[in-house]
Amino acid sequence: MSTLDALNTEFGIDDKLQFLEGKGGLTLFRLSHSGNTVEGYLYGGHICSFVHGGEELLWMSSTSFFEKAQPIRGGIPLCFPWFGPSELDSLPQHGYLRLSEMQVKACSCDDKAVSLVLQLATSAIGVAGNFAALDIELELKLGSSLAMHLRAVNSSTETQKVTAALHTYFEVSNVEQVDIPALHGLSYLDKTQDYASFEQVAPFAINCEHDRVFSKAPQHVELLDPGNKRRIIIESEGNNNTVVWNPGAEKAVGIGDFDETRQANMLCIEPACALDDAVMLKPGESFELAQRLWAEPIGS
Ligand code: BG6
Repeated sequence: MSTLDALNTEFGIDDKLQFLEGKGGLTLFRLSHSGNTVEGYLYGGHICSFVHGGEELLWMSSTSFFEKAQPIRGGIPLCFPWFGPSELDSLPQHGYLRLSEMQVKACSCDDKAVSLVLQLATSAIGVAGNFAALDIELELKLGSSLAMHLRAVNSSTETQKVTAALHTYFEVSNVEQVDIPALHGLSYLDKTQDYASFEQVAPFAINCEHDRVFSKAPQHVELLDPGNKRRIIIESEGNNNTVVWNPGAEKAVGIGDFDETRQANMLCIEPACALDDAVMLKPGESFELAQRLWAEPIGS
């Protein structure tokens, strides 16, 4: 029996959960419920599509890699157990989770939602040091919204420093014309200006590279997109920060797997625990970062 057949036999749920061959031969899962659909890869636990009310909410790069040892560009990369560059030179940016194949742990379905739980077995990780003793799990729940919970337990005997982000690439009509009112007036560290601190002015008007780490992240954030006549709602838990990122037209050209022709159609809003807001996870302690996403017509 092929791996796909085995997955579908053990975990498939009629038209609600299926496993298929995705790009680059990677294993794709498709969740469907309440008229909404999510597609993602076991590789990285990476969601690449969320169609809500018939509209795609996530931006994917048409030039993304779909091969092991390379991250997927777009959708929702899971940055874990560190966000940004590693403190150890030899380790990859944004952690090893987005470069690791997850396994299916469980699934269920009722009249409200379909759920899928993925896990990363510690033995599957080829990284040095203590990080190997983190047991990682991703729970996805799709109904009228998409909820995702990234969890980890420190199963080692030493405290581990963890940073993380749900690096969500949203599809927007024009990044210069969207706004995120919940972040107005909040202070942020600007990664494009050597982490200098500024206060966010209103409206956002993103017409150049933006790479901002907001402290005191609100748990309810709305991405207003008048061009698409919609607002995307992001409710998060467990994040100390919100990161807002768009590489800008110039830098986008230099990112090999980034479809620069659609740079103005994306904006990342990332619930995160970053920089000085790292979590110190004692032995046996657990970490959780979560978000729930959905869209509504603007004005409603
Ligand atoms: C953002 C970071 O979250 O991710 C940026 O704040 C980074 O600094 C961006 O450039 C993309 O990272 P990567 O590794 O996926 O190219």
